[in-house]
Amino acid sequence: MHVVGARPNFMKVAPIFREMLKHPDKFAQLLVHTGQHYDDNMSQVFFEDLALPQPDIYLGIGSGSHAQQTARIMLACESMLMEHKPDLVIVVGDVNSTLSCALTAAKLSIRVAHVESGLRSFDRTMPEEINRILTDHVSDLLFTTEPSANENLRREGIAEEKIHFVGNVMIDTLVYLLPKSEDRWSANHFISNYRSKTQNLSEYGLVTLHRPSNVDKPESLQEIIRTLINIAREVPVIFPVHPRTRKKMENSGENLENSSLILIEPLGYLDFLALMSHATFVITDSGGIQEETTYLGIPCLTLRDSTERPITITEGTNELVSLDTVTLRTDKIMEGAWKVGTIPEMWDGRSAARIVDILSRQM
Ligand code: UD1
Repeated sequence: MHVVGARPNFMKVAPIFREMLKHPDKFAQLLVHTGQHYDDNMSQVFFEDLALPQPDIYLGIGSGSHAQQTARIMLACESMLMEHKPDLVIVVGDVNSTLSCALTAAKLSIRVAHVESGLRSFDRTMPEEINRILTDHVSDLLFTTEPSANENLRREGIAEEKIHFVGNVMIDTLVYLLPKSEDRWSANHFISNYRSKTQNLSEYGLVTLHRPSNVDKPESLQEIIRTLINIAREVPVIFPVHPRTRKKMENSGENLENSSLILIEPLGYLDFLALMSHATFVITDSGGIQEETTYLGIPCLTLRDSTERPITITEGTNELVSLDTVTLRTDKIMEGAWKVGTIPEMWDGRSAARIVDILSRQM
């Protein structure tokens, strides 16, 4: 039983689902969507772009405080697990749906596999950090994306035989769909719209921001928008706005008319990948985008104090920035003086195959 709930889950489950389909003698699969994300452009469009089948079970949880959301998912998950009695629950990433289903399954003595295990920002003010730690500690199989994750798990006393370094399933999806996203780049009218708006889209920055630490306080969000407007004086900046951020921006009062900061609705997987793979730089607070830009070799500026994905800095194209340093860094990128980076070990498009191979030997 695969569990997805929020936007960053869909691209991680898709390659595992596809790989398991190749072994119908070994695996019967059920796909569960908790409904943590429910807007079409945060959910449905990803099923289409990733060719994921519609979920077998939809829990329709929706938004709420952390306790409400987590508790509602656990309650719905418990009856679902008792009814379907899966041999294994597969959870991915670090969102509330991940923890809720892992915890519920573990208490029903159902085995749990956690994909993208062991990442640590060491910042417990992030809700995702709590989700990561707790999910890892109730899981039976822990699949990791980078060596630092193995070290973190060992340090926390997780038994060595549970830990499997397999690489990055999100990169599997990227490798698989990059050619299709290239078709979007050449054909899709949404990109030509920006081209005409910005005259020439050969250079542009791409922004995504939704972390509570950046967007929940109106003053800090306002300061971020001012900084982006400033950067957009040098180079057009495209900003697909997450619903959480959109809500907070409604009161920010910044005037974007005549600015080259272009706010748009959240994009589907293929359109976003098209824009990301051609961007001059990306400014983000997302986890996954730090990894995708590292694979693509696109300069990435992460507007956070920490990252749970240190390999994107030590080997990739990522750097942590603050509002005080971000403009200096975009200037440096525009001068062509950014580090080149290398692709981390086992980020090769074959991580799902490794996971399914391990599962088929263990089940
Ligand atoms: C969640 C994840 C975060 C992940 C992000 C990707 C947790 C704790 N956080 O954060 O790790 O990086 O997803 O997007 O699980 N909303 C809508 N429509 C939707 C979904 C959300 O309008 O389809 C609005 C709601 O007002 C909601 C708010 O966005 O209250 C936040 O959504 P929520 O799922 O709680 O967290 P995210 O900020 O999306």
